[in-house]
Amino acid sequence: MSSNKLLEVDNLNVYYGNIHAIKGVSLNVCEGEIVSLIGANGAGKTTTLQTISGLLKAKTGSVKFNGKELTKMEAHNILKCGIAQVPEGRRVFANLTVKENLEMGGITVKDTSENKKAEIEEIYKRFPRLEERKKQTAGTLSGGEQQMLAIGRALMSRPKILLLDEPSMGLSPMLVKEIFKIIKDVNESGVTVLLVEQNAKMALSISDRAYILETGKVSRSGDAHSLMEDDAIKKAYLGA
Ligand SMILES: Nc1ncnc2c1ncn2[C@@H]1O[C@H](COP(=O)(O)OP(=O)(O)OP(=O)(O)O)[C@@H](O)[C@H]1O
Ligand SMILES: [Mg+2]
Repeated sequence: MSSNKLLEVDNLNVYYGNIHAIKGVSLNVCEGEIVSLIGANGAGKTTTLQTISGLLKAKTGSVKFNGKELTKMEAHNILKCGIAQVPEGRRVFANLTVKENLEMGGITVKDTSENKKAEIEEIYKRFPRLEERKKQTAGTLSGGEQQMLAIGRALMSRPKILLLDEPSMGLSPMLVKEIFKIIKDVNESGVTVLLVEQNAKMALSISDRAYILETGKVSRSGDAHSLMEDDAIKKAYLGA
């Protein structure tokens, strides 16, 4: 694994009106890694991801991707740089079919329709269940299938890094396993991953490193294995 810092977040401060939601967060993700951002409800995980992808604007601080400053860029341009987000709660286009959802994911990419078709075929190879349901409207898919579609849709922009916001939320234990395996596979195919999860155990089990977020601040960070063995972390996040 290279130690090239792909994503560098430095001293980020984000507000909702007077609410100081992100208080000086710094983190980085190296090329090829899976890094988890773990924390309780309201810790600021989603806010952090939304700021990286440009959907929210930081008051101060910097987000660099491949050395390029993103904080003043608009979300669609950030997407073009190779950062794709799978939003919390999946947010597939319920009235569009599976195939149309995937096509929407590729809309920002400048490419021939042939290549886009090939990309959809790649997604179907990764998610055979989506191919079986390609003409079905997304709103009628199960929760797990919608999560697969949300991931597939994000992959259509051929990102260098995938930001995933609680992909396991609301899924059965079996599907949780399947989704984490998919994340691992996507990573092994060359996509760097920043993963937000409340399921700390599963997240740490597939991650290289992790950051623990508490009320808008990074309270701990380190390699995933050491964090998993840490008594305080076990007690607070791993149900031990
Ligand atoms: N639109 C908003 N307006 C005002 N405050 C907000 C808004 N969105 C989030 N917040 C506040 O910012 C803080 C961080 O919220 P955020 O959604 O980032 O947490 P989270 O870690 O993703 O939580 P969860 O695990 O519940 O998804 C919380 O205190 C939340 O109430
Ligand atoms: Mg959230």
